Amino acid sequence: MIRFLLDQELVELDHTTPDLTVLDWLRIHRHRTGTKEGCGSGDCGACTVVVVSVGKSPTGESRLEHHAINSCITFVGALHGKQLLTVESLATHDVLHPVQQCMVDEHGSQCGFCTPGFVMSLYALYQRPEDTTTLKASVEQALGGNLCRCTGYRPIIQAAERALDIRALAIDASVTGGSSEKDNALMSTLQSLNEEPARIIGFYQPDSLPAFANYLVDNPDARILAGGTDLALEVTQQMRELPSIVSLNAVAELKKTVVTDTYVELGAAVTLTDCMQLLQGWIPGAHELLLRFGSDQVRNQGTVGGNIGSASPIGDLPPLLIALDATITVQRSDQTRTLALQDHYLGYRQTTLQLGEFIHSVHIPLPAPTSHFSVHKISKRCDDDISSVCLAIHLPIKDGVVHDCRLAFGGMAATPVRATKAEGALNGKPLSQTSVNAAKQAIAQELTPMSDARASATYRSQVAANLIQRVLLEVQSV
Ligand SMILES: Cc1cc2nc3c(=O)[nH]c(=O)nc-3n(C[C@H](O)[C@H](O)[C@H](O)COP(=O)(O)OP(=O)(O)OC[C@H]3O[C@@H](n4cnc5c(N)ncnc54)[C@H](O)[C@@H]3O)c2cc1C
Ligand code: FES
Ligand code: FES
Repeated sequence: MIRFLLDQELVELDHTTPDLTVLDWLRIHRHRTGTKEGCGSGDCGACTVVVVSVGKSPTGESRLEHHAINSCITFVGALHGKQLLTVESLATHDVLHPVQQCMVDEHGSQCGFCTPGFVMSLYALYQRPEDTTTLKASVEQALGGNLCRCTGYRPIIQAAERALDIRALAIDASVTGGSSEKDNALMSTLQSLNEEPARIIGFYQPDSLPAFANYLVDNPDARILAGGTDLALEVTQQMRELPSIVSLNAVAELKKTVVTDTYVELGAAVTLTDCMQLLQGWIPGAHELLLRFGSDQVRNQGTVGGNIGSASPIGDLPPLLIALDATITVQRSDQTRTLALQDHYLGYRQTTLQLGEFIHSVHIPLPAPTSHFSVHKISKRCDDDISSVCLAIHLPIKDGVVHDCRLAFGGMAATPVRATKAEGALNGKPLSQTSVNAAKQAIAQELTPMSDARASATYRSQVAANLIQRVLLEVQSV
């Protein structure tokens, strides 16, 4: 049974296709058509809904968390134990929610197609626990996954700011804020829905590591579902059916994080939103890179393990992780093996993963304070776009000389790769125009990028060389 709340209504599904999306369930099965389908691939935000779950505050108390997600690339099983809110959920007794009213007052509602998605992204922002200043600074980030193709974002941003002012007044008047009795009641309902793991024919979401690992051994054909931001595209873009899915989202062990002075360890199921917050201040450039990873909707669902597991040559985390010499732990049944991430990739979308194996966690050594570390993502658009080229570079410099440097690229080969010849050109010498020229030449010899819709091979090679030049300028400017 898959159990969740739609508003306050308990929904129990025991016969449904495992790859049914939340969008199709809403529109086709429930005739709840406020949520729109624009692209069906997670890019436009027209289908944005909000999912409410029980999370933890930084001090460890249980609290409700509101996350905007793209319903077109979320399977219904992912709703188990959560509350689903759509644009129809917000008004009470015909009184609009402040974000809706402000969209009206600021003329932010420009077309009926995108507006529900904008409203839901703003509602998720409105519900976040941070102070008004922080939330106002996050408006553009919150809207980064909602595309408007008509007159632009200005009135929508004004609506957002006005709604946040109303929210601040409401908190001052203690009308909202803090954990109310209503919140506590919702939390205990959601916790009770989670007492049994989600299971229907073709979809299983076990709630312990042994149950997940054993299921995968017994059902090696089951597709592992993490955030689904890649996997669901097989259904919505390639029109494939996924008859057997096993989700790792209820396995607490896979969400563990460890942060020390010398390394960070992330469970495979840690979301990109959590990863972005965790790495801030520890790995230079990681927060900025992740801010440009998809959108809030994608980061709220997508996971670290999914980004490694999809084995895309243009995934953003692998170059960063390989440049830091990260290792992954892979598990099958109760056996684990650990390997360098760079050795995990064998060819285009091919990895060392064997049937029944899954990525358990990633161990990331932190760069020494004396090293230069930077990461550079080049894409056609700044927000909500995939890399054409991504370079992560780790340059330990001792007594003015580079040693053991690591350069890792995305978009320059069939897999994320190290540019070992370029590393050789930089190692053992002071970083200078001469050594950088040698590194650029080495890159041209050792990496043969492909041409595709994002960029031509020539463009990619030129960008890769330019990025090395940029690193020299960065180091010289310190
Ligand atoms: C609109 C949009 C924008 C995007 N932007 C970016 C971007 O900027 N940068 C970028 O790098 N990617 C981007 N992506 C791709 C995608 O979001 C990422 O690759 C994401 O990290 C995938 O994680 P997930 O948890 O959603 O994986 P899923 O879709 O659940 O899984 C992806 C694959 O990995 C496998 N898998 C998942 N977890 C594990 C595990 N623990 N062990 C073994 N296999 C596993 C799955 O079976 C599947 O084959 C974007 C996608 C969309 C739809
Ligand atoms: S319909 Fe475009 S993101 Fe879902
Ligand atoms: S609001 Fe729909 S295109 Fe601008």
